[in-house]
Amino acid sequence: MSEMREHWSGSLGFVLAAAGSAVGLGNIWKFPYIAGENGGGAFVAVYLICIAIIGFPIMLCEITMGRRTQKNPVGAFKALSPRKSHLANFIGFCMLFTAIALLFFQHYGYAVVLLILGSLVIRYGWTVVGIVGVFTGVIILSYYSVVGGWTLGYIIKSFSGELTYVKESAASASFDAFKNNIGWVITMQLGFIFLCALILLKGVRDGIEKWSKILMPLLFFLLIVLILRGLTLPGATKGVNFMLSPKMSNLSAESILIALGHAFFTLSLGMGTMITYGSYISREQNIFMSTLSIVVLDTVMAICAGLAIFPSVFAMGFKEAAGPGLVFNVLPAVFNSIPGGLGWLWAGLFFILLAIAALTSGISMLEVVIAFFVDEVKWSRKKAVIITASATAALGVLSAISISSWNRLEWLHIALVKTFGVESTGFFEVMDKLSSNWLLPLGGLSIAIFVGWIWGTKKAVEEIRHGSHNFADVHLISLLAGLKDDPSHNNSKYHVLTLASMWGIFIRFITPVAVMAAFLYEIGWLTFK
Ligand code: ALA
Repeated sequence: MSEMREHWSGSLGFVLAAAGSAVGLGNIWKFPYIAGENGGGAFVAVYLICIAIIGFPIMLCEITMGRRTQKNPVGAFKALSPRKSHLANFIGFCMLFTAIALLFFQHYGYAVVLLILGSLVIRYGWTVVGIVGVFTGVIILSYYSVVGGWTLGYIIKSFSGELTYVKESAASASFDAFKNNIGWVITMQLGFIFLCALILLKGVRDGIEKWSKILMPLLFFLLIVLILRGLTLPGATKGVNFMLSPKMSNLSAESILIALGHAFFTLSLGMGTMITYGSYISREQNIFMSTLSIVVLDTVMAICAGLAIFPSVFAMGFKEAAGPGLVFNVLPAVFNSIPGGLGWLWAGLFFILLAIAALTSGISMLEVVIAFFVDEVKWSRKKAVIITASATAALGVLSAISISSWNRLEWLHIALVKTFGVESTGFFEVMDKLSSNWLLPLGGLSIAIFVGWIWGTKKAVEEIRHGSHNFADVHLISLLAGLKDDPSHNNSKYHVLTLASMWGIFIRFITPVAVMAAFLYEIGWLTFK
C-alpha cells in the first residue's frame, strides 16, 4: 500500500504544510495576548522552554510514527502496538471501575463515556488513541470553521467598505450583529469548509503542498506589511513593550501551565495531524531538522503576529483584549483610526492573513479524517473528502448557531446539563473545552507514553535515524563545541549524550509529567489560589 501513497515533494513542502497546520488562529489571537498578560518577554522565554520539553518531543513522536507506518493515526497505532499491552488493559479496567463508581454517584453521563472508552481500550488497546485523535480533528475543525467563516465574512466587510467605525463600541455592536445573523454565519462557515475541501480534493502534493507553498509565504509577507505599518506609528513601542518586555512579577506558576497548554493547540499536537502529515514523508528526509523548523516557524509567526497587532492597538490608544474580542471588536476600529485613511485596506489585509492561517490549519485537521477513511475503510479520496467535509460542516453548524447562548439549541443544552451537569455558554464552548482541555492533552500524554514505553524509544530512534543520522547520533557536547564533524567526536562508542538520547529521556519522563501537570491545571484540579 505504501508505494501507492502520495508523498511530499521534499522537505520544504512538508515543513511548509506542517507549519501551515501549526500556524493558525492560536498564534494570531491567543499567543500575543497571553504573552502580554503573563510576563511578556519572560513568558516568551518560558514558552520556548515548554516548546522544547513538550512541543518538540511530542511532535517528533507523531511525525516519526507517521513516517514509520505510512498510515493515518488509527493505522499507525494499530501497526505499532504490541498484540497485548498490560498497561492498556490496566488503564481500560481502571476506566471500567471508575465508571461503576460514577454510576453509584449517579453521574450517568461520565459513567457511560468511561464504560465505552474502557471497553474500547480493553478490546483495541492503544489504537483507541488514534481513534480519539481522528475524532479530535473533527471536533476542533467543527468550531474552528465557524471562526474561519467569520474571517471570510470580515474580508468581504472590509473590502465592501462596511468596516468604517472608529469606536470600539461600534465595532462590538457590528460584530454582535454579524454573529447573530445566522444565515450569513453559516454560509461563511460552509464556505470555509468548502475551501478546505476544494484544496484537499487535489490530494497531498497538488493540493495541500501546492497551496501551502503559495499561502505560507503570502501569510509571512502580509505579516511583514502589517508589522511595518504598526511599528511606524507614533507610540508603537508601548505595544512592543506590552508583549515583549520581561515582567517577572507577572510570571507565575500558572503562566507556566498556560504556556504548556498552549503548546499543544498551537503546534497541532494530539489531534492526529502530525502523524498524518508525517505519513506522507519519504524516508530520506531529515525529520529531526524538519520538526525543529516547524516549531521555530510557529513560534516566530506567533511573535510576529503580536508585533503586527499590538503596536497599532497601543499607538491608537485602544485597550488590549483577548481572542475574538481583540480581532473582531477592536482591530477594525484600530485600523480605521490610523491616520492617512486606508483603514479598510489594513483591515482587509489582516483578515486575509487570518483566513489563510485558519485555512492551512483547517485542511490539516480534515486531512486526518480523510486519511483514516482512505486507508482504513478504503474509500476513494473524493468520497472521503465529500463525506467528511459534510459531516464536519453539519457539526459545525451547531457551534455556529450557539456561540454565546443556547437559545436556538435549548434541547441540547438541557440534555447536556442533565447528562454531564456542566454549565457552559454555548455549544461552541463545549466543543472548545472538550478538545483543548481534555482531548489534546490526553492525546499528547498517551502518545508520549506509547512512544516512550510501549513502541519504545529504540525503535523510534531507528526510524528517526533515516535521513537524520547526523543529528540523532551526534554527541551533544561536540555539537555545542562546534566539533560535530570531527571524526573522533562523531564515531566514538562512548557517545551517550546525543540528541536522540536526550529526546528519549524527555519523552519517557519529563514530557509526560509536564503534560499531566498542564492537563490537571486545564481541568481545574491543580490551582494556585
Ligand atoms: N495549530 C492551530 C492553531 O494554532 C490549530 O490555530
